Amino acid sequence: MQSQHELWQAARQDPQAFWGAAAQDIDWISRPKQILDDSRPPFYRWYSDGSLNTCFNALDRHVLAGRGHQVALIHDSPLTQSCTQLTYAELLDEVSRAAGALHALGITRGDRVVIYLPMVPAAIIAMLACARLGAVHSVVFGGFAAAELAARIDDAQPKAIITASCGLEPGRIVEYWPLVSQARELAEHRVEHVMLLQRPQHEVDTKDSGVVDWSSAVRQASPVAPVEVLATDPLYILYTSGTTGRPKGIVRDNGGHAVAMAWSFANIYGMTANDTWWSASDVGWVVGHSYIVYAPLLSGATTVMYEGKPVGTPDAGAFWRVIQDHGVSGLFTAPTAIRAIKKEDPQGAFIGNYDLSSLRTLFLAGERLDPATYEWATDHLGVPVVDNWWQTETGWPICATMRGVPSAPIRIGSPGHPVPGFNVQILGESAAGEGPGAVLAADAEGAIAIELPMPPGTLPTLWGDDDRYRESYLNTHPGYYNSGDGGFIDVDGYVYVMGRTDDTINVAGHRLTTGSMEAVVASHPMVAECAVIGVSDPIKGQIPRAFVVLKSGAAIEPAQLQEEVVALVRQRIGPVAAMKSVLVVPALPKTRSGKILRRSMRAIAEGRDEPVPSTIEDAGVLDRLRPMLTELTELTELTELTD
Ligand code: COA
Ligand code: AMP
Repeated sequence: MQSQHELWQAARQDPQAFWGAAAQDIDWISRPKQILDDSRPPFYRWYSDGSLNTCFNALDRHVLAGRGHQVALIHDSPLTQSCTQLTYAELLDEVSRAAGALHALGITRGDRVVIYLPMVPAAIIAMLACARLGAVHSVVFGGFAAAELAARIDDAQPKAIITASCGLEPGRIVEYWPLVSQARELAEHRVEHVMLLQRPQHEVDTKDSGVVDWSSAVRQASPVAPVEVLATDPLYILYTSGTTGRPKGIVRDNGGHAVAMAWSFANIYGMTANDTWWSASDVGWVVGHSYIVYAPLLSGATTVMYEGKPVGTPDAGAFWRVIQDHGVSGLFTAPTAIRAIKKEDPQGAFIGNYDLSSLRTLFLAGERLDPATYEWATDHLGVPVVDNWWQTETGWPICATMRGVPSAPIRIGSPGHPVPGFNVQILGESAAGEGPGAVLAADAEGAIAIELPMPPGTLPTLWGDDDRYRESYLNTHPGYYNSGDGGFIDVDGYVYVMGRTDDTINVAGHRLTTGSMEAVVASHPMVAECAVIGVSDPIKGQIPRAFVVLKSGAAIEPAQLQEEVVALVRQRIGPVAAMKSVLVVPALPKTRSGKILRRSMRAIAEGRDEPVPSTIEDAGVLDRLRPMLTELTELTELTELTD
């Protein structure tokens, strides 16, 4: 069997042959002859003369192969104290009728459908129903507020929204309906159809509102057959934080995505159709799209969907209980989840209460894997703990220790080597108009960039905005995709990801923009100016902290201001932003021309040794902020800081 390195070399030397062979694991309606279309750089398309249906590949073909009785989906919900299973045959039946219900509303190939649902099977059914029709789904994470949902509605311009009456968080019901109603009011785009899943925990009265009841529409609909789409047709749009605060619509195509999902599941994750796989994330994130829904189902495996938390539902043994109950062989989650468990159960006492013999590997991604978390998980679980680095944009890992093929040993602190298809380089600063930055030597820190073209499944562009795609990712280092992460590669080729080079922060594995939070903080009537910086947090990795200067004469207690600003951020961005700490300071560090030195503040917060610009107006201001940027715990003595 070829090793990770040999496969990587093969994909580099002859990408057409490599990805042509990988495409054989997908059932095509029209098999592609052109593997890579590189006629329009920097835009590249995979399998452009091929056609297929992603839903057919995820469901029908397994049923046709006689595997309809295999469990496709296990929904395990400690929040509702229920567990349901759907076989491939049952899931196909549900999905083809859901597609029928959408079709009855006039949804056809190319139409967009926004899905704003909690972690319930309907979310997966709705995604696959869209794929079946060739419609483009855009799932919005339930922890986002109405304004964020509205921004996505305006960008995607959906014909329909599929939502639920409520989501469930420990100890509280999240009412979705008011959020959806408010988002529809805020959005300029008029959504023609709304489908609503009523959950028994909280039903809403939508009589005479024209809202379609999801469950009865699906029950009554006639099943529809999968629609042929081009490999290059969009399967979904998934929004991620952009540097300007306007979310970026990452486009995923059908053909390249299907190939990448099936290939990565087998080769990177080492899973087969006989495995039960659990990705403890949310369908609203890319990890959920790729590894709760598409990769396991395209591969004919059993996927677990979990509506709960790592702790508190009911305790820090929840993950181990799920592994035991369903015989999970691969668990994928974010380091933050393990840190949360470790905090509650430092000795790993709960682990001993469960039979984890089915577990082969723990995969962690979404944020930097700190050595303490790696070691705790390795010691207590006794299975390999594999870090993998990737992004919403790529849709699957860029670097990982591959588990399906022989690979180099794990090195703590690194997500390993690039996987086949990703040619990763560390680049120095680039001067505008003078080509990419220089490729840096081993161990030198710079921008992590990926040589174009990237492999199948990665973003071909941003939704309706080729220019923004170029500006955001390609212009800085022509010929490369700029990942937005900084880091280095050691002499043995291991990649180290040190953190973002832009103003996005990573809160509990969720990528958020401080710029959009600043806009909300600055909208408070007492705030003259502000900076929001990610500071270290022992569980969530980073949390946002706002530094505000009050308008002159503004009379408000710091604690009161904090309460109001936190409420504003929750209301405009959503609880997921986890903004808890707002500090009133006399001044923010600035250049002589008045620009706030956010970069220097960020460098201090991240413990980086970066020279302070010589243009700084008063270095003392930055020095006074230093302790507030680096400390790990919440500051309570707010009044002291206003002195
Ligand atoms: N709908 C509505 N609200 C949601 C939500 C959803 N789908 N998901 C989260 N929220 C809310 C939470 O209730 C919380 O609100 P609160 O401030 O009122 O408590 C807030 O958003 C922050 O949620 P979360 O980031 O989940 O933090 P937490 O403190 O509740 O839990 C962890 C911390 C570590 C347990 C949790 O982040 C976790 O399980 N992470 C797993 C990793 C993960 O899923 N990563 C995704 C990428 S792989
Ligand atoms: P998202 O697009 O939300 O998945 O966030 C992607 C970002 O999360 C990356 O650009 C990194 O900054 C960070 N990230 C994801 N996985 C890792 C990892 N294994 N190590 C370090 N950072 C990571």
